Amino acid sequence: MANREAPIGIFDSGVGGTSIWQEIHQLLPHEDTLYLADSKYAPYGNRPKEEIVSLSKKNTEYLLENGCKIIVVACNTATTNAIAQLRSEYDVPFIGIEPAIKPAALKTKTRSIGILATKGTLGSELFHKTAESVTYGIQLTEVVGEGLVPLIENGNLGDPQLRKLLQRYLQPMLEAQIDHLVLGCSHYPYLVPLLREMLPEGIKIIDSGEAVARQTQAILQQHNLLNLKKTIPKLRFYTNASVATLQLLLQEYSESILIEKKDF
Ligand code: DGL
Repeated sequence: MANREAPIGIFDSGVGGTSIWQEIHQLLPHEDTLYLADSKYAPYGNRPKEEIVSLSKKNTEYLLENGCKIIVVACNTATTNAIAQLRSEYDVPFIGIEPAIKPAALKTKTRSIGILATKGTLGSELFHKTAESVTYGIQLTEVVGEGLVPLIENGNLGDPQLRKLLQRYLQPMLEAQIDHLVLGCSHYPYLVPLLREMLPEGIKIIDSGEAVARQTQAILQQHNLLNLKKTIPKLRFYTNASVATLQLLLQEYSESILIEKKDF
């Protein structure tokens, strides 16, 4: 039985979900967290659904063995392909992340929005259902961000290849006169500075990080699992590949976190 002081477990196919971890840590600064970067198997985006499910189960089991009280699936690809199965197999609350197309659809003035996500997310049933129900009368330009995740995993956010790929992916969205760009992959918030340079000012960039953090807080509260102690939290990051990119992306937290290589 989980207790209030147990850690929040978070996993992603790699380093991208740390963008979600930052939102969770900001909102719940006293919670212990255990983050798994499954970088050895990244990207998930081009894998078949069964493989995404089995990798998600592996990560969930590792987090549960380490005593986590809730699991945040900080990966759109894993959420849209595997969360139903995870919820049916494990007796622990799960929080998922899905592309924020609903808020974009509610706010668009040009009635045209764009989404950049992985093939796995855009091809999933869950995404199609959501898209159909919220984008009635709105043009939705879907683009697969092929090749972006491996470049982010390498940690070189200044790689000219990133700009080149984004130029190609943004083109159909600009032609469709979108006024909202939805980032449907937890790796992509790390591209926001570059995207801001490349996009006209009027286009809003939306991701789901803050909403996921708020949902995590609400579900912990609902299950009486919020940590009420105001002590210094234990913030662990495990990767099954190199620690270098995690170190780079989380450098502002380097004094307070622990990054380790593990087998999982
Ligand atoms: N960070 C992921 C997501 O949110 C997965 C990217 C990938 O592994 O393809 O979709």
